[in-house]
Amino acid sequence: MKCTRCRARAEVQLRSHNAAFCRPCFLFVFRRQIERAIESEKMLGRGERILVAVSGGKDSLALWDVLADLGHDTTGLYVGLGIGAYSELSHAKVVAFATRRGLPLRVITLDEEAGGLGVPVVAGLTRRPPCSACGTMKRHWFDAAAVEGGFDVLATGHNLDDEAARLLGNVLRWQTDHLARQRPVLETTHPRFVRKVKPLYLTSEYETAVYAFMRGLDYIVDECPNAAGATQLVHKDLLNRLEAASPGSKLAFVKDFQRTGRPAFAAAPRENPRDCEGCGMPAYGTLCAYCRLVGEVRRKAAPLAGAPA
Ligand code: AMP
Ligand code: FES
Ligand code: ZN
Repeated sequence: MKCTRCRARAEVQLRSHNAAFCRPCFLFVFRRQIERAIESEKMLGRGERILVAVSGGKDSLALWDVLADLGHDTTGLYVGLGIGAYSELSHAKVVAFATRRGLPLRVITLDEEAGGLGVPVVAGLTRRPPCSACGTMKRHWFDAAAVEGGFDVLATGHNLDDEAARLLGNVLRWQTDHLARQRPVLETTHPRFVRKVKPLYLTSEYETAVYAFMRGLDYIVDECPNAAGATQLVHKDLLNRLEAASPGSKLAFVKDFQRTGRPAFAAAPRENPRDCEGCGMPAYGTLCAYCRLVGEVRRKAAPLAGAPA
């Protein structure tokens, strides 16, 4: 098999692109694909300060690696969710990467900075699925860290597989309001809510895995222990089977949705959020989702704290 670009011996085949590449050409094409996504969706402006949310997994580390190589002003953000050995190991991977590349990193540990509110505690007390509690906690701390640090934009490592699975989930339940808002760029709607971008939204998990391997990135391979059984994994599995039978399906699903599908769902504009009365962050009611969750935790924890030993 020969490289589609230079005719040297190919090292990787990308069936979804009907192409094969040698190592230097793959690295070139991978970066260019991300650069093009950034440019065509106007994700990042010149000189903007970018906070890159890094989980220690291959996608977000690959994203940080590429953004730094493209000359962007980046700082990493790692949120320690308190999920035992998984969190410890992912934290170590992020610190090792930042140190190796000499890039600044901000770490927020929920068990310490959020008053002992790690994901297992919050999920246990509120009886919510851990991933749901985790999503609310992460979103809050991503926004808070971006505002406190004076960043212009927050970048996450959501990839093509994540976006396709989310799209499928939204379609299966015809969540038209979610479909109207599923975009690779979320513009700011509140002073304490920076723009959010997903530069890898057209880059597959397989491609980031190949990139991480070729670049020697040391990332956490294990999935979060709470992910097992999550519906998103079922959707990913379905899409992988579709992709195997018909390469390029995932890319077409997400790309064509942005081009043709989403405009059809463009709902009446959602009203802008106001200030949360608890923490000042954006909220659609009197309290933001984070403050409502924390309030529930405190109410449920109070009787336990007062109980005789
Ligand atoms: P996930 O929701 O786990 O699929 O992760 C999606 C994206 O959110 C990742 O690519 C990261 O950019 C970001 N992210 C997830 N977990 C963390 C974390 N603990 N700290 C910082 N960023 C995270
Ligand atoms: Fe949030 Fe697994 S990463 S529950
Ligand atoms: Zn709040």
